[in-house]
Amino acid sequence: MDFENVFSPSKRSSFNSCNAQYGLEPHLMFVEAWEALRKTMVYFRGQPVGTIAALDNSDEKLNYDQVFVRDFVPSALAFLMNGEPEIVKNFILKTLRLQSWEKKIDRFQLGEGVMPASFKVLHDPVRNTDTIMADFGESAIGRVAPVDSGFWWIILLRAYTKSTGDTSLAEMPDCQKGMRLILALCLSEGFDTFPTLLCADGCSMIDRRMGVYGYPIEIQALFFMALRCALVLLKQDDQGKELTDRIVKRLHALSFHMRSYFWLDLKQLNDIYRYKTEEYSHTAVNKFNVMPDSLPEWVFDFMPTYGGYFLGNVGPSNMDFRWFCLGNCIAILSSLATPEQSTAIMDLIESRWEELVGDMPVKVCYPAIEGHDWRIITGCDPKNTRWSYHNGGSWPVLLWLLTAACIKVGRPQIARRAIEVAELRLAKDGWPEYYDGKSGRYIGKQARKHQTWSVAGYLVAKMMLEDPSHLGMISLEEDKQMKPTIKRSSSWSF
Ligand code: GLC
Repeated sequence: MDFENVFSPSKRSSFNSCNAQYGLEPHLMFVEAWEALRKTMVYFRGQPVGTIAALDNSDEKLNYDQVFVRDFVPSALAFLMNGEPEIVKNFILKTLRLQSWEKKIDRFQLGEGVMPASFKVLHDPVRNTDTIMADFGESAIGRVAPVDSGFWWIILLRAYTKSTGDTSLAEMPDCQKGMRLILALCLSEGFDTFPTLLCADGCSMIDRRMGVYGYPIEIQALFFMALRCALVLLKQDDQGKELTDRIVKRLHALSFHMRSYFWLDLKQLNDIYRYKTEEYSHTAVNKFNVMPDSLPEWVFDFMPTYGGYFLGNVGPSNMDFRWFCLGNCIAILSSLATPEQSTAIMDLIESRWEELVGDMPVKVCYPAIEGHDWRIITGCDPKNTRWSYHNGGSWPVLLWLLTAACIKVGRPQIARRAIEVAELRLAKDGWPEYYDGKSGRYIGKQARKHQTWSVAGYLVAKMMLEDPSHLGMISLEEDKQMKPTIKRSSSWSF
């Protein structure tokens, strides 16, 4: 492709691609990515409403011909950054409509606030009509409702508002109601003893059984971020005020819980290693009765001297020591992580570069589970064999999250390095969904090609690095009121 031509003023209108600011030093891959992203746009009655998950015609489509809520997020950010908010607004309104559908799995009715995992536009060429079909978990593998969709929806609504300055969308009574319904689902009272959100396996990006049930970090971090976004977006009428009070209380408890019990660094690891068990009452140090024998061998070498991360999961006698990319990046972006913790997460990524980035950024989780554990935890899932797919696979989409987190912590050079690694292969390999192998050297066993969020993730990473002011739409500053009053070194161990 000839850059000069693609970006010459006469061609720009027909090319209809990116803003001039990105046209100055056009990069072939960047241009190709924009072209690829535009091809994935899905229309409903003539209006763009989302992007299809993958444009891979070579493989069985399954549900990759649908618009996924979580997959659309990087597409939406790319469009917002490029000054094209229309598709994002339409998407927000369309999914809001879908939320109000009656949702049933067999004879059981789902909560009113549940947002779909995905939807599909069906076009009837004879009648020339469009209809929509949505999946709230009733068609998904494992029949799990997507807990993350509602959170992403709120986060996207704030990104749209922040980027366009248009508050009218969020202020619409329907949008306020949609938000309240999502919040009602996750703030409802029950038997909980923790402020974290209890959920089933496979209810987020990792949408298959992978031992992420209970209190997985991805959901907790998204929950925290969505609550903070809702605080900004909720109108202060009677209903809004009441909800605001509940959100503030929950945020307070949630940040304390996560920062103290999910945080792992060398000191904390050493404390757990020396834990006593079977303690009773409020004086217990080992509050969750975690058995030091359950500490996996790998974690001792993995933990650098400087650095740390949020654990994968914490529950009764259960700590999942795996490192998860999405949850840790969202923890940074939402300021769930304190500035010290954010820096420590970056230190860890730098020290464990080979393991977490290797030949393709970024590992969805580390390490893989194998052998007996794989059998028990995944239920012998052939798609999630070790170092593949959700089980330690490398997902290019995560590049945008890593980049955003790096910029927030003031370490953009880490993101630059990761982007350079991705640029060596991503376009050449046809934008795969994921890569396999310990260092991500192989295109994933069943990875789709032309996976939209791999394309969009790359674009967002590039645009954000080019113009870090974009970070504001997806990042929240630290709320001083949530600062822990107790110093970690004295009484934060458990
Ligand atoms: C896979 C991923 C899921 C994604 C979907 C569509 O199922 O696990 O996170 O939303 O594909 O790309």
